[in-house]
Amino acid sequence: MTLSHTTLNFLFSDTGRAALDWLAAQDLSDTNTLPLLNTLRREYAPDDAGAALTMARLRQRAAAKFSRADQMFFTPDALEQASSEVISYTRISHFFQSSYLHIVDLGCGIGGDAIMLGSYPGAGVIAVDRDALRLRMARANLAVYDRRWSHVVQADITDPLPLQRIRQRAGKEYKAAFFDPARRVESGGKKRRVFSVRDYVPPLDVIRQWDFEAMAVKLSPGVKLDELAPYIQDRARIEFVSLGGELKEAVLWYGLLGFGENSATRVEADGRVYALYRNPGAISVRLSAPRAYLYEPDPALIRAGLFAELKLELRQQIFLLDPQIAYLTADSYVPSPWLRAWPVLAWLPFNLKRLRAALRERNIGRVTVKKRGSPILPEDLIRKLKLNGEGDAAVIVLTQIADQHSAIICGEMLG
Ligand SMILES: C[S@@+](CC[C@H](N)C(=O)[O-])C[C@H]1O[C@@H](n2cnc3c(N)ncnc32)[C@H](O)[C@@H]1O
Repeated sequence: MTLSHTTLNFLFSDTGRAALDWLAAQDLSDTNTLPLLNTLRREYAPDDAGAALTMARLRQRAAAKFSRADQMFFTPDALEQASSEVISYTRISHFFQSSYLHIVDLGCGIGGDAIMLGSYPGAGVIAVDRDALRLRMARANLAVYDRRWSHVVQADITDPLPLQRIRQRAGKEYKAAFFDPARRVESGGKKRRVFSVRDYVPPLDVIRQWDFEAMAVKLSPGVKLDELAPYIQDRARIEFVSLGGELKEAVLWYGLLGFGENSATRVEADGRVYALYRNPGAISVRLSAPRAYLYEPDPALIRAGLFAELKLELRQQIFLLDPQIAYLTADSYVPSPWLRAWPVLAWLPFNLKRLRAALRERNIGRVTVKKRGSPILPEDLIRKLKLNGEGDAAVIVLTQIADQHSAIICGEMLG
């Protein structure tokens, strides 16, 4: 069901809100679609009934990103693109810490980031987008969070003139901006992800025409670093961000927020934040065969390439297994939010027969398989190992060790 201005009018009305309240208490699973629509259609027009069901389901999905999702408004695409509250707040706190309280949100969508940009006492946000439907939702969503000092403005951000007027009209100096370009484009009626910053909507290059003192740009976590080279002069740095160990985004910090070194940030769902910055003085990590423990670093740390900095932070020797693969190894176990760890029981160059024998020797009858840099599919290996399901459990890690395809047999994950 496509949401339109007409169906949004209904959802904003008292009857629409009553329909959404009713739906919030129902089983919204797909199998229940017809009974739900039949009940709704007794009271509401078919399009309104469909829109209410779509919105109720979007609210349910959005609960993973927003604490007040049950009162907010989304389109499927805008929800997909919206930052989650905890990540957005972590990002935006850099502005507040540097005393930037008045921020322009360029490409605000349904207002996911604008909500957080306006969260600090005394903060104000101008939320700009060209999409009128999303802006209506942004306005409603900002109200849900009681963001009174927010202005929602329809404008094309590639056009410098409206932006100048907006900045003056708000009556405050808006010296900082957050820019979140779309990384999905529509072609032939289908949405597809774009990977080059040149294909973002609008393209990254648009930042060159803005004169903000400080700026953050949200980028795809897989962004190619060589594409960013033209922007990385003396006042720009890149931060990679993960949420609970899942890589979520890269941020280009620009202007007065761009000083310092590239960094990795790990945000936990409960709001705890860990940050690691590149340290040009850190001594690089050497290679070693597997030692007593195998470590898998957080993907933000891997993307930022901060192994040497991690070694410095842990105050212990850690080694890479292979120059191309991000597994680490060490003689002792050091719990760290940046690392998942397994005790190493044995390792061998990959050979199915020898691996089966090694498992049998250790009375291992159940395995899970992880891999990095190996062509073998975990399910294929499990099938070929023909284990009897009895005895101990283990984790088999398929990877390269100094360029050699290898298998590491590990105990259960620690911590
Ligand atoms: C990735 S979404 C923003 C999501 C938002 N930060 C959030 O958390 O909800 C990008 C937005 O940029 C807007 N946009 C794209 N090109 C634009 C342009 N030239 N002028 C204004 N807005 C534009 C799109 O309409 C879309 O809402």
